[in-house]
Amino acid sequence: MAEFVKLATIHDLPDGGMRAVEYNGRRIALFRAGTTIYATDDICSHAYAELSEGFFDPDDHTVECPLHGSRFDVRTGRPLTLPAFAPIEVFEVQVQGDDVLVRVA
Ligand code: FES
Repeated sequence: MAEFVKLATIHDLPDGGMRAVEYNGRRIALFRAGTTIYATDDICSHAYAELSEGFFDPDDHTVECPLHGSRFDVRTGRPLTLPAFAPIEVFEVQVQGDDVLVRVA
């Protein structure tokens, strides 16, 4: 069972912002919408693109891939528009004090 690991602090993520972090050789994207943090794979499921270089909309909880424009729901990982059709992985997040903890397998 994967454990929660600290990948950032809340101060690393301005409201409405996103950033990528590396953990165990894997890129994880963190998104902040108000007081809620979401964590997903940073790599698009369609081809190689870093979603953290795309566009995050905190109001509808979506990130748009910078390469071909697929939009993903960061809460579920589900692609909402083509050309991506496979979901991206999402990770459970806990905020403890200032620390952002993510359960990464
Ligand atoms: S690489 Fe993301 S939509 Fe193509």
